[in-house]
Amino acid sequence: MSTTVNRVYRLKSRPEGSPVADNLELVEEIVPDPEPGQALVRTCYLSVDPTTRVWMSDYRGYMPPVPLGEVMRGVGVGQVEKSRRDDLPEGAIVLGWPGWQEYCLTNESSLVPLEFPFLPLPDPLPAPPSAFAGVLGHTGLTAHVGIDIGKPHPGDTAVVSAAAGAVGSIAGQLAKAAGATVVGIAGGHQKCRHVVDTLGFDHCIDRHAQSWREDLAAATPDGIDLDFENVGGEIMDAVLLRLNVGARVVLCGMIAAYNRFGSVGQHDIIQFVMQRASLHGFLVLDHLDRVAEAGAHLGELIAAGKLHYDETIVDGLEKAPDALSQILDGENLGKMIVRVSETL
Ligand SMILES: NC(=O)c1ccc[n+]([C@@H]2O[C@H](COP(=O)([O-])OP(=O)(O)OC[C@H]3O[C@@H](n4cnc5c(N)ncnc54)[C@H](OP(=O)(O)O)[C@@H]3O)[C@@H](O)[C@H]2O)c1
Repeated sequence: MSTTVNRVYRLKSRPEGSPVADNLELVEEIVPDPEPGQALVRTCYLSVDPTTRVWMSDYRGYMPPVPLGEVMRGVGVGQVEKSRRDDLPEGAIVLGWPGWQEYCLTNESSLVPLEFPFLPLPDPLPAPPSAFAGVLGHTGLTAHVGIDIGKPHPGDTAVVSAAAGAVGSIAGQLAKAAGATVVGIAGGHQKCRHVVDTLGFDHCIDRHAQSWREDLAAATPDGIDLDFENVGGEIMDAVLLRLNVGARVVLCGMIAAYNRFGSVGQHDIIQFVMQRASLHGFLVLDHLDRVAEAGAHLGELIAAGKLHYDETIVDGLEKAPDALSQILDGENLGKMIVRVSETL
């Protein structure tokens, strides 16, 4: 009979606008011992993603919304505590979908489609375990795939929004390595300094500055050939109005809309006609077969000192809602992660 106490965040109500603490409820439950074919995974590093906000809404997305009363969905790194699965031995460090809880049973969740199982990570780990919740996991894969779609070339001007964030910071460095002039957009002077001085972008526009539109124009005198779009809204409109003929827009996300779906839209999409530009939306989940390729590529760049990544790590499962608010408020640098427990 199991006595393992699990702390679990369940979705209590759907946010209207910014999520509030009351939308989630932290409860204690006993987690059962694994049945044959199951493993009990202790959550270690939980990735907090902008899409978490989308899953909280009753909005037509790429996955069904999290049902009210259910465990909040989430990707993360965990460690197998008890196992009745040959492929996941006790002690193995795994990447998967533990959700916002301290323990989870594999193949139990109704929240995540079965094609996204827990995968054992290499032993020994080639990088700190938190990296697999970010740059060496789905975040790095997103940047890798998006840049592959956008194909920056020498001579191109590429713009990357949310440039100091998890995906944008990696995408911009990859575009720079491909020879493009790279202009980031980020919130605040300090972040912009970091984007230029540490990440190596050519320019960074502070979206909070009154002059951000003029600053964007000044930083892109020859127009924009590639937009790696992470935010949407008025920033994307300003970028669209500077697209060159034949420009590519890689639409990764639109975080500016996530608190207000339906009320934040683009005014200037006619620019796709005027400039004969292309718009390519993509979803990382369609490219999971490339996770090893992306991890090897990005891992090599990191080891060679050619790729920098940042993590904002907060401690304790109870901080997860606050971590989500932080990314929606632009308070994170790089990947936002909740350390729920340590790997042993
Ligand atoms: N297509 C896919 O498969 C896929 C996969 C992963 C992520 N994504 C998308 O990629 C984007 C970035 O995700 P991430 O995980 O790397 O997050 P992140 O960039 O680490 O964090 C989000 C950042 O967005 C900026 N932001 C927040 N609200 C904003 C607003 N109203 N207007 C403009 N900027 C705002 C903030 O940066 P500043 O304050 O510095 O601007 C914040 O730090 C999101 O849109 C996400 O949904 C897509």
